[in-house]
Amino acid sequence: PTAQLIDTYGRRISYLRVSVTDRCDLRCSYCMPKDFKGFEEPAHWLRHEEMARLVGLFVQLGVSKVRLTGGEPLMRRGIAELAARITAMPQVRDLSLSTNGTTLKRHAASLRAAGVKRLNVSLDTLDVAQYAAITGRDCLHDVLEGLGEAVRVGFAPIKLNCVVNSDMPEAEMIRLLRYALEHGFILRLIENMPIGSTGQQFQHADLTRQGAELAARFDLVPALDTSDSGPARYWTAGDDGPSVLGVITPMSRHFCETCNRVRLTVDGTLHLCLGQEDSVPLGRLLRAGADDAALLAAIEAGIAAKPERHEFNTRRERVVRFMSQTGG
Ligand code: GTP
Ligand code: 5AD
Ligand code: SF4
Repeated sequence: PTAQLIDTYGRRISYLRVSVTDRCDLRCSYCMPKDFKGFEEPAHWLRHEEMARLVGLFVQLGVSKVRLTGGEPLMRRGIAELAARITAMPQVRDLSLSTNGTTLKRHAASLRAAGVKRLNVSLDTLDVAQYAAITGRDCLHDVLEGLGEAVRVGFAPIKLNCVVNSDMPEAEMIRLLRYALEHGFILRLIENMPIGSTGQQFQHADLTRQGAELAARFDLVPALDTSDSGPARYWTAGDDGPSVLGVITPMSRHFCETCNRVRLTVDGTLHLCLGQEDSVPLGRLLRAGADDAALLAAIEAGIAAKPERHEFNTRRERVVRFMSQTGG
């Protein structure tokens, strides 16, 4: 396939993030309000074959990396079957999944069997009470068991996604990094982004500074190979070793100039930037009977309109949709 999606800023879009449900069994304070009710109507959810059709069209246009997200993707019935449909496309060289891990113990083996290559698991703290305070549910133990099972069935390396607010104690970061080193996980500290009115007090951390400090404390060195690192910057434990720590710093140092991705929501809306409202209603076009040629043209027109960057730091009004709709 020679087709490529290149936007007006010269960025090649090769990575599609697919939110397979906007529902979630947790209520992380940075993601959606505790009493959130505005979920997508089930009638609008794309069926697996509709989703696979859209993914297939992106693949025809040069997309080779796909990530399944949510909400919580493991809440979508038949998720492993959808994964298998996607890994059956020969041009897809990387199918990954981002999960909160609460039901990972039950799903790890079937995801692995379906060809999911990589798992990123949310883990904001190792403190039981703090975990319950952040997510609204006392289920840290389930997540840790899920991680254990994921390792057992062969997922490696697993990334731990930790959203950091400015009030996170350094001791907690140290504890998480020790845990990650012990188990062979990659700890990724993520600056909290202001998406949707979640009702939380918003103050993001400066992980450009704090990440470097933490790395120095553990004698880590910056990773040399950044070719496949996406928005994250990594450190390794020594020359040529695997990454052990990463930071994602949309607020203190954004990475939009190398953005390679777009997002599809459960109703088939194509979001062109995590931090902007620009979108294309691919699902609606599909359900109105659009043929492949029309959908391909709509995708290409959308990519041509991909915004240059997010404006979290400069704009007063937030992106109105919630993180749970686009899965980060
Ligand atoms: P890898 O391929 O394993 O590096 O995954 P990833 O970091 O792309 O995906 P993941 O779902 O684990 O997301 C981790 C964090 O990065 C989440 O907080 C996402 O919201 C954030 N993130 C991912 N892509 C973008 C992006 O394009 N822009 C911004 N601002 N944040 C992003
Ligand atoms: N800012 C940054 N990251 C977020 N995530 C969810 N909400 C936010 C936010 N407001 C993260 C989750 C998950 C990943 C897919 O996105 O922790 O690991
Ligand atoms: Fe659920 Fe993930 Fe949002 Fe937390 S961040 S409420 S786990 S979708």
